[in-house]
Amino acid sequence: MRKESSIHGQWSSRLVFILAATGSAVGLGNIWRFPYIVGEHGGGAFVLVYLACILLIGLPIMMAEILIGRRGRQSPINTMATLARDEGLSRSWSLLGWLGVVAGFLILSYYSVIAGWALSYVFRAGAGSFSGQDADGVRAMFEGLVSDPERLLAWHTIFMVMTMMVVARGVRSGLEQAVRILMPALLIMLVLLVGYAMAEGHFMDGFRFMFRPDFSRLSGNSVLVAMGQAFFTLSLGMGAIMIYGSYLSSRASIARTSATVVGADTAVAILAGLAIFPIVFASGLEPGQGPGLIFITLPMAFGQMPGGVLFGTVFFVLLLVAAWTSSISIMEPAVAYLVENRGMHRVGAAAAVAGVAWLLGIGTVLSFNHWSGYTLFDRTFFDLVDYLTSNILLPLGGLLIALFAGWRMTERSVMEELGIRRPLLFRTWYYLVRFVAPIGILLVFLRAINLI
Ligand code: PFF
Repeated sequence: MRKESSIHGQWSSRLVFILAATGSAVGLGNIWRFPYIVGEHGGGAFVLVYLACILLIGLPIMMAEILIGRRGRQSPINTMATLARDEGLSRSWSLLGWLGVVAGFLILSYYSVIAGWALSYVFRAGAGSFSGQDADGVRAMFEGLVSDPERLLAWHTIFMVMTMMVVARGVRSGLEQAVRILMPALLIMLVLLVGYAMAEGHFMDGFRFMFRPDFSRLSGNSVLVAMGQAFFTLSLGMGAIMIYGSYLSSRASIARTSATVVGADTAVAILAGLAIFPIVFASGLEPGQGPGLIFITLPMAFGQMPGGVLFGTVFFVLLLVAAWTSSISIMEPAVAYLVENRGMHRVGAAAAVAGVAWLLGIGTVLSFNHWSGYTLFDRTFFDLVDYLTSNILLPLGGLLIALFAGWRMTERSVMEELGIRRPLLFRTWYYLVRFVAPIGILLVFLRAINLI
């Protein structure tokens, strides 16, 4: 009953899958979000909880998501429906696919706005606009950008079109070509930047901030945020990794591949922190200032450091590339669904998905200016969408994936698809997916709403 390939195509090798999945995982989450939430939640202790979530919850769920995707070989909605049918389960499991599609639209909508900031900063950095600016100068530049809805909308539109163009070209000529070129470029830029931070920044201050745990700064909510970040950064819980798994050859080892992707993503987050905090401390600035961290602090630092125009530009190109390879994966599940179920051509499907996400993104654009005064639970539209997706929808999607693979699919099916030959390894994974991940997610949820 196992399908050998998806109607949308297949990666030409396991390495391409690794590039694509790492491209999905490594994004704004690693370079923009991770450093600023570590800053907000006090550093080392938060990093430890985050790493525990990655290893005990993220890695096993990534394997589960890939195995489900590869067994179903369709968009997450249809994959879930097909597997549920094959296993004799209720068709309502396809709701898990729908949950992912909703989360995907929401994430894509604001992701593109923030990626638009990165795009605009590539040009600013390249033009040398940061040279010699003081803190007030760069802050004014950032605020000038986010307070101007038209400019935000223009960059958001360009980025959404960039994403759409890759997705419209399909798996082989779009996604695969993009990651083949962009991922090696990303690696080179990152290595350059960490070298630069080591040479020019206060490396040990940054290092200490990230690795010295101070548990007094950790609240129940910090733990939820750390877990949400683990899901967000690994692209889990919404079907992106599932659909990438559906394009993976049946012969590739899911365990080894997942471990590589998780390792690469974690390494990039840590390296990004080690590139950013030393520069922040070298300029005598504060790490806890939220989403503006890399758009205010870093440009100022770059503006005062030798080689700052070049390295500043490299930094924002890196951020842009990382965001691009991720947004492609956020768009893919909904596009695949429209092609499968509505008989649409890929180009039309990509345009439709991009259009809806673009419209939703206007909410985020306005939340930084005209709507900044409208809040719910003290959060703007952007904060709400970000909080709801990362901290609730993605962990919920992950929980359902773990329950499906751990409790509803037969052990024979999961074993066959995973193809792990070492019994101890399989048992460990199965235990993590059945018990540790679901219980962990539930406990973190309960703790966050102060029930325990
Ligand atoms: N993992 C991406 C990042 O860290 O920026 C964001 C992301 C991509 C989230 C794909 C969810 C997703 F399905």
